Amino acid sequence: MSQAARKLLVTSALPYANGPIHIGHLVEYLQTDIWVRFQKLIGNNCTYICASDAHGTPIMLRARQEDISPEILVENFRLEHQQDFAAFHIAFDNYHSTHSEENRELVEQIYTELDAKGLIERRTIEQAYDESAGMFLPDRFLKGTCPRCQAEDQYGDNCEVCGATYATSELIAPRSILSDTAPVMRESEHLFFRLAEFESMLQEWTRGEAVDDAVGKKLQEWFDTGLQDWDISRDAPYFGFRIPGTDDKYFYVWLDAPVGYLASFLHLCARRPDLDFDEYFAKDSTTELYHFIGKDIVYFHTLFWPAVLEGANLRKPTGVFAHGFLTVNGQKMSKSRGTFIAARTYLQHLDPEYLRYYYAVKLSAGIEDIDLNLEDFVQRVNSDLVGKLVNIASRCAGFIARGADGRLAATLERPELYNTFVDAGDSIAGHYAARDYSRAVREIMRLADMANQYIDERKPWVLNKEGKTDEVQQVCTQGLNLFRVLMTYLTPVLPAMADKAAAFLQCGFEHWDDRNTPLLDTTIGQFTPLLTRVDPDKVAHMVADSKAEPATSGDNSSETTPSDDKTTDNNMISIDDFLKVDLRVAKILHAEAVEDADKLLRITVDDGDGERQVLAGIRKAYDPATLKGRHVVIVANLKPRKMRFGTSEGMILAAGEDDIFLLGPDDGARAGMRVR
Ligand code: 2FM
Ligand code: ZN
Repeated sequence: MSQAARKLLVTSALPYANGPIHIGHLVEYLQTDIWVRFQKLIGNNCTYICASDAHGTPIMLRARQEDISPEILVENFRLEHQQDFAAFHIAFDNYHSTHSEENRELVEQIYTELDAKGLIERRTIEQAYDESAGMFLPDRFLKGTCPRCQAEDQYGDNCEVCGATYATSELIAPRSILSDTAPVMRESEHLFFRLAEFESMLQEWTRGEAVDDAVGKKLQEWFDTGLQDWDISRDAPYFGFRIPGTDDKYFYVWLDAPVGYLASFLHLCARRPDLDFDEYFAKDSTTELYHFIGKDIVYFHTLFWPAVLEGANLRKPTGVFAHGFLTVNGQKMSKSRGTFIAARTYLQHLDPEYLRYYYAVKLSAGIEDIDLNLEDFVQRVNSDLVGKLVNIASRCAGFIARGADGRLAATLERPELYNTFVDAGDSIAGHYAARDYSRAVREIMRLADMANQYIDERKPWVLNKEGKTDEVQQVCTQGLNLFRVLMTYLTPVLPAMADKAAAFLQCGFEHWDDRNTPLLDTTIGQFTPLLTRVDPDKVAHMVADSKAEPATSGDNSSETTPSDDKTTDNNMISIDDFLKVDLRVAKILHAEAVEDADKLLRITVDDGDGERQVLAGIRKAYDPATLKGRHVVIVANLKPRKMRFGTSEGMILAAGEDDIFLLGPDDGARAGMRVR
């Protein structure tokens, strides 16, 4: 690792400044922070920047709702986010805002350049307009009946019942969610970025090193369906930057958000003479640019963004690293289950390093979702960090302090064991560099086991009783040196613990290669507990508090696409709401397959009051001939839904998604009984 230091600029996605940071967000910031700390530790010149994503309709509306200016809203959240990140030891070199002068200038420059090159096209489009709110409506602000399956109350661009996607104009009986009025269609001129011009450049960029295979495959699908021009303008009222040369048009938030990466860097350059903006962003830059993002925003970062950069004659990203979402206990984070945990709530109960470590255990370079299983979390942190790692230091510290006057021996008793630890550093470094933290941690813990085994074999407590003080000093010097190497490897994951270990060992953890030289014949400091056990009661309290917190909006997903809903599941209902649902036992009288519908059965049930027909998507799990006479549970007061194959008058309850299991009462229940 003695090559010249590389110059890296690294970003995490800019969080929307309209809601709190939660543990789902933290996957990305911790993933990035660990990578950046690792790069710095091996001697690379690495700069980590981020900012608040400050623009867009939801932010404008939330500010109106709170009766404050959007500037104040986003600045308050910016400060709150910065504090939360700092508490989790996420060490940005700069944290700025997309609502900044740097960003305005850069967006204008980039746009002017694109326009001058003929890459911006003006086109009049028709869009839903809310006359009472006086604004055009993003798709997510419209609801109506699905044109395909007729399900009511569906968003403007996709149906959550049948999964159809469609143009807003196809939605039946649309309503504005802002005013509950019917929108009118109104024309307006929009500006489009001609993405298709960049297809061959993007194909080539994709085939290079910039994206992993999974993302590359996704991109190929998009190339196959054809690249569409990208609408980069929004009509007033909008919170954003006005487009030069227009009175009432604003840049779409997704144009100025990634430019915010540059703006944050430019802002940093102003106070860091060692950093030169052009060196990092000129087309022929030899520096490296990496974006860490969630898998939901791949399109923006791997198509629009490189194309915009290319069009503006700027360098393209060296790598775009996508990760999956967080589930908690195997399910989407949920307010009602108390697993929608704000960063602040976590911090009130638990040490941030527990979560840093647990995410590292779970993270590899892929886009699979990662699961935070709270029981496993307690068990894993306690067994690995307290039971294995800290244990090495605590078993040795006292003997050196008391028996050797705080001084380490002048030689290592087992240099070959020490070298095994040092040599493992190359492969561990490779795992970190490849974002395979899970493997890095596995190797480190394997070494921790070896260190404990060594101490178990040499039994310093027995040697001590036997009065063999020199030998005790030897063994504990060896143990503490092994601990020091492990701590070096874990510094990117556990920076606060590394600081405490540095104070204890009176050494720094400044460079990966410092481990090559053991710490000998030096005096160490006082041992203080490096980490305490995770208390499961505190985890339970954190979950209870998260249930009790008021629901908060923290996302801007109307600005993106429906699949971007990576956060809210605020599904608490009151007992009154629950009692509105008429759940009843019903008896199946007849069942048959629905022609032309692979999934559906047409089922006639007796609900106690009479017969009704239900169309149920259980065909793959049940042969209709076996259902007659069975008792099931139905939702009896669901509004009848007109579907292509007839009307469905209720819903039969079943568990599971891939496997389907009908819910039935115990023997003896009769049709018509209410379920409570
Ligand atoms: O999806 C989001 O949360 C966006 N605020 C991310 C923006 S990343 C970048 F482009 F600024
Ligand atoms: Zn539908």
